[in-house]
Amino acid sequence: MLGTPSGDQSGTTRDDRAWWRDAVIYQVYPRSWADSDGDGIGDLPGITSRLEHLVALGVDAVWLSPFYTSPQRDAGYDVADFRDVDPIFGTLADADALVARAHDLGLRVIVDVVPNHTSDEHAWFREALASEPGSAARARYLFRDGRGDAGELPPNNWQSMFGGPAWSRTTSPDGSPGQWYLHLFDASQPDLDWTNPEVGDELESVLRFWLDRDVDGFRIDVAHGLVKADGLPDGPENFDPATQATALQPMFDQPGVHEIYRAWRRLVDEYAVPGADRDRILCAEAWVLPIDSLAHYVRPDELHQSFNFSFLMTPWIASELRISIDEGLTSVAAVGAPQTWVLSNHDVVRHASRLGYPPQAGRTRSEGIGPDDPQPDPALGLRRARAATALMLALPGSAYLYQGEELGLPEATLLPDEARQDPTWERSNHTSPGRDGCRVPVPWEADRPSFGFGPTDATWLPQPQSYRDLAVDRQDGVDGSTLELYRTLLRVRRDRGLGRGELTWADVAPADVLAFEVTGDAGATAVLTNLGTEPVPIPPGSRVLAASGPLPDSALPVDTTVWFVPA
Ligand code: NOJ
Repeated sequence: MLGTPSGDQSGTTRDDRAWWRDAVIYQVYPRSWADSDGDGIGDLPGITSRLEHLVALGVDAVWLSPFYTSPQRDAGYDVADFRDVDPIFGTLADADALVARAHDLGLRVIVDVVPNHTSDEHAWFREALASEPGSAARARYLFRDGRGDAGELPPNNWQSMFGGPAWSRTTSPDGSPGQWYLHLFDASQPDLDWTNPEVGDELESVLRFWLDRDVDGFRIDVAHGLVKADGLPDGPENFDPATQATALQPMFDQPGVHEIYRAWRRLVDEYAVPGADRDRILCAEAWVLPIDSLAHYVRPDELHQSFNFSFLMTPWIASELRISIDEGLTSVAAVGAPQTWVLSNHDVVRHASRLGYPPQAGRTRSEGIGPDDPQPDPALGLRRARAATALMLALPGSAYLYQGEELGLPEATLLPDEARQDPTWERSNHTSPGRDGCRVPVPWEADRPSFGFGPTDATWLPQPQSYRDLAVDRQDGVDGSTLELYRTLLRVRRDRGLGRGELTWADVAPADVLAFEVTGDAGATAVLTNLGTEPVPIPPGSRVLAASGPLPDSALPVDTTVWFVPA
């Protein structure tokens, strides 16, 4: 059960003991986790029926990607009704049952909120299209006249994150071309205008709707995109998202977003239960650089967590990982927040495949991997992925896991083009395979239809045959399996209080070995990750607690992480 009172613990403060500061949160992508009705698409009753898997894994909470009413043009990130469940996923009663069952099992439930845009099938957007330019209905979105003599050019040079212009032109009732509207993503995802107070009021009411249904928090989609620079000026040409400050782009990380999150923080704090560990939390999906700017999102009066995507994108190179970890820890320490680590999610190539390339060539974000691309080395990728996870789960702070990574699932890189559903594929004119490869339904039982995903063979994306041997039932109780590794790591992490510990680097190791100690409740835990080319000795007398692979001859092989109690 949740919310056990403990001493003078306040539910509303940044108390060091608050649950979210070291929580491990498991992302379920509802389409692809468990299908109860055999239509090939996962659903809420399916999730509820499988929650014990998360208890056995040892996570603290589950984050559900959107399951709201949606035409599913962007797999549910195009919301037509923020307050209802799409029939493909179930009903509101199913959502309530899921939350109640999770709470009974001691799991918290985080849901997604998508405040940057709606679906073009949302009642507001339909009304806007049916209304005159300049009307109150249009003022909820970013409608503008086009440039050029006849308004034939988009209002500015912004590009959609999925490829192509970020503007689409409307057609007036008489059939003539009309105004343009902004969509940072697909044309079916019109951006809301956050300078309009009605928008903020509506989204706050949506937060309350789900808090009243007892959810434990929200992951905020495109958290850095809500506020656009005044006047919607052209953005810089040749902006390099890998190195340049995000705020140089007029659509991201604008100062005004922080006011929104201060208001949201006050709102969720109203729902905390004094004397119980029941903080409702807010976690930003914000692809923001530099990392000090990202830390602004987790200042004491703003959000609780913000994914550290810089760490996710760091290549498998010891010196770079060390810098990334240091910057990750110092940036949030400056504002008194924990760091939020993550290696995989539904938008990036799974880390078991990303790490199966030479370090600098690993592909990360939405471009995906197609059958014609160079293929990752699956054994190398899995080995490094296990080492990377063991590294991440030793770090102080909270961590997010993505469904299937506990099975070592690789990206599905050979999906046929006709199976692709990510709008990136079409919008990039078939140059980016997109994100479908990390969204394939997960395997539960090797010898059942759809590997146990559902009662039939139907799956909305085809499952690679390699998923059979990675099914939960093939790994459960099997020494050395990735599933058992994750269970061990999560148990030891909890027992040793690693998520609440202090990290100190040990400078004795060779340069291509990461070596540090995390001092938590149970004393010091030493961690070594070998990114070099030779095995390194484990100090004699060490008591090994967990290792991402076998440790022959008391040495740490290449691409392996070990946790131990020093002699
Ligand atoms: C980020 C989400 O994670 C991604 O899946 C989605 O396509 C975009 N935001 C747009 O909502």
